[in-house]
Amino acid sequence: MSTQTDTRRLTAVDIAKRKGGEKIVSLTAYHAHTAGIVDRYVDFILVGDSLGMVMHGLETTLPVTLEMMILQGRAVMRGSSRALVVVDMPFGSYEEGPEQAFRNAAHVLKNTGAGAIKLEGGVHMAGTVAFLVRRGIPVMGHVGLTPQSINTMGGFRVQGRGDEGQRMLEEDARAISDAGAFAIVMEGIVEPVARRITETVSTVTIGIGASPACDGQILVLEDMLGLNDWVPKFVKKFGSLREHIEGAVSGFADEVRAGTFPAQEHTYQPSAPKPPAKG
Ligand code: KIV
Repeated sequence: MSTQTDTRRLTAVDIAKRKGGEKIVSLTAYHAHTAGIVDRYVDFILVGDSLGMVMHGLETTLPVTLEMMILQGRAVMRGSSRALVVVDMPFGSYEEGPEQAFRNAAHVLKNTGAGAIKLEGGVHMAGTVAFLVRRGIPVMGHVGLTPQSINTMGGFRVQGRGDEGQRMLEEDARAISDAGAFAIVMEGIVEPVARRITETVSTVTIGIGASPACDGQILVLEDMLGLNDWVPKFVKKFGSLREHIEGAVSGFADEVRAGTFPAQEHTYQPSAPKPPAKG
């Protein structure tokens, strides 16, 4: 079991320095209690806008709001003390231009205390990334399969299978790296492209469905814990939480119905009567 023992919270600068070194480990978390568990094992925690799908049962991440991100970002900051916390900018909160992006990113950092934000997009977002970084906002990029563009991508599709797609992906990653992002999430990318990007950009690359070639890896916590029946090919279930939860919930229901819970040890009794006063 590998745990981290640093007491100082990691920063975007610490993560950026890890290029080509020890692999960077990350998971998503949306709650104080899960953040508290993963904090000891990861380098950064992503409060991803996947919370819309995972926590709220939405079909896409598009309806997620800044308020939802801030609420869960605060919870994750309260629950963790060591890992860098990165909060996703939700769809519609940064694409209009650099000023809108700065206003909303500053709002997120002020109201959560998180150390960085993440936004989706390649070449077309590079100007915005540079604007934010120059004004003190650490930015994590996200290229490849970008779930906020699902309507223009035509679904959750692996990126970079053809020559043109590969060229565009490499341009996207290079543009975000040159703009000053401290890290780039690469999602749903074929291995040779992920490898080429990782070898040629100076920014650390964090893969999710992007092969072992990346500088680090991230998964959605609930997926790797086995809370969802269906998971994409790139997810390995490291746990089987769904079965554990079902076992506990059905055990509770059975005992309540059988009248065996609560037992005496779970039941309060009145205080023992006081002895009568002497004399
Ligand atoms: O929102 C999220 O969870 C993400 C990860 C998939 C990287 O962006």
